[in-house]
Amino acid sequence: MLKDYFITDSDAENQRLFSEKVRTMNSGEKKYIFIQTFGCQQNEADSERICGMALAMGYDKTENEKSADLIIVNTCAVREHAELRALSITGQFKHLKAAKPGLIIGICGCMVSQNHRVDDIKNKYPYVDFLMGTSLLWKFPEILWKTLSTGKRGFYLDSGNEKNISEDMPVRRDSSFKAWVTIMYGCDNFCTYCIVPYVRGRERSRKKECIIEEVKGLAAEGYKEITLLGQNVNSYGKALYTDYDFADLLSDICKIEGDFKIRFMTSHPKDATKKLIDVISSEPKIAKAFHLPLQSGSDRILKAMNRHYDMEHYLELVHYMRGKMPDIAITTDIIVGFPSETEEDFEQTLKALEKVRFDNIFSFIYSPRNGTAAAKMEQLPYEVKTKRFERMLELQNSISNGKNQSYVGSVQKVLVEGVSKTNPEKLTGRNEKNRLVHFDGDESLIGKFVNIKITKADTYSLLGELVGKE
Ligand code: SAH
Ligand code: SF4
Ligand code: F3S
Repeated sequence: MLKDYFITDSDAENQRLFSEKVRTMNSGEKKYIFIQTFGCQQNEADSERICGMALAMGYDKTENEKSADLIIVNTCAVREHAELRALSITGQFKHLKAAKPGLIIGICGCMVSQNHRVDDIKNKYPYVDFLMGTSLLWKFPEILWKTLSTGKRGFYLDSGNEKNISEDMPVRRDSSFKAWVTIMYGCDNFCTYCIVPYVRGRERSRKKECIIEEVKGLAAEGYKEITLLGQNVNSYGKALYTDYDFADLLSDICKIEGDFKIRFMTSHPKDATKKLIDVISSEPKIAKAFHLPLQSGSDRILKAMNRHYDMEHYLELVHYMRGKMPDIAITTDIIVGFPSETEEDFEQTLKALEKVRFDNIFSFIYSPRNGTAAAKMEQLPYEVKTKRFERMLELQNSISNGKNQSYVGSVQKVLVEGVSKTNPEKLTGRNEKNRLVHFDGDESLIGKFVNIKITKADTYSLLGELVGKE
């Protein structure tokens, strides 16, 4: 039985009509959309849909907010810092609106699904024209039409039980060789520190046929890297199928012809199965890189975080993975300073880093989130959190550096992503393990696979020479 969270054909048709209306309204004069995106890949993928819908409504994309007629701020709520940045950018758009009264400013994304932020924006940012909840993205044409035709502010917020998966949103991808494919939305896990289940709603999977169709299209267009997205990809299909899971989806996607690599994120250790690891090891199309967020090395803290696994289980997964794929790159997320974390708990985390020797970690200082269970617990002093954070980085830097040095002398297949941000003389790309590689080369190589002989390594990247193209 399919879960009934898919929007109907008539709903989709309705949005196409609104889109046409806006397009007609915009005809005559060139209009531009500027999108500012915060947060994770899910938000980047959503912004590409917003852009696709805007293009269908007669807008062109601009990278310069000053020339925009429509500004969208796609926000993140995962840590306070992300919210403050979104609010600060929105504040900076005030003078643009003053200079161009016809400018429309809309805010969407995860921050908009929290009542206190909605109240803030309503009251303190009167020049914001509309708010659009994460589950209402597909209604963007209607929301924009109502804003343009009434000239009134509108607050379109998640009700929690909307039908909200649409296969009919056009997309304008930022890259011509790397693509995001959302396979599921929302999260049911309620880790005690995390706001995502509150702002993204319950888990909803797309139908496998739609995902496979999308990937086929991308492969035919020559995309070289396709990343499957979900807050917990390992629960793909749970509410939809009884006998089809994420590992099955990966196997089916690998049958699609083309020279592309598949990545996925994020996997939850409690649901990562041996079946999944077996598929990764047996399919050459799947990048041998596994992001498996650990969060803490202390069993007591993992329990308080509601993660549903312990260190023993985590190490068993790592052991199984490395048994099958000795050189698989394993990366993780760590939170330091979760409420009640003692020095001893923290040392367990350091010990875990030493034991696993991750290729890379993404580490965060715990940030209390309104409405979550952990925010109600007694908080650690800021200095304790930052000190621990620094100690952890120091340890991981030495591990990452050691791992990087082991690449020196090897030849790596690299997907060239662009000109290096730190050195405009060099091109930059990533190997299958997601390691940054810099080298000298012609810009015509961007978007292609090349072979690079690694000559030098530091903590954050590898340096090499071009030895061949694919
Ligand atoms: N669904 C993914 C994570 C999404 S959020 C997963 O389960 O792995 C990305 C990362 O942000 C998390 O893995 C966690 O390490 C971090 N994070 C989430 N909430 C946080 C908070 N309140 N404070 C600090 N870091 C947080
Ligand atoms: Fe947040 Fe946990 Fe869900 Fe990841 S699995 S999005 S950390 S609640
Ligand atoms: Fe942020 Fe929302 Fe992603 S809270 S991390 S943008 S799901």
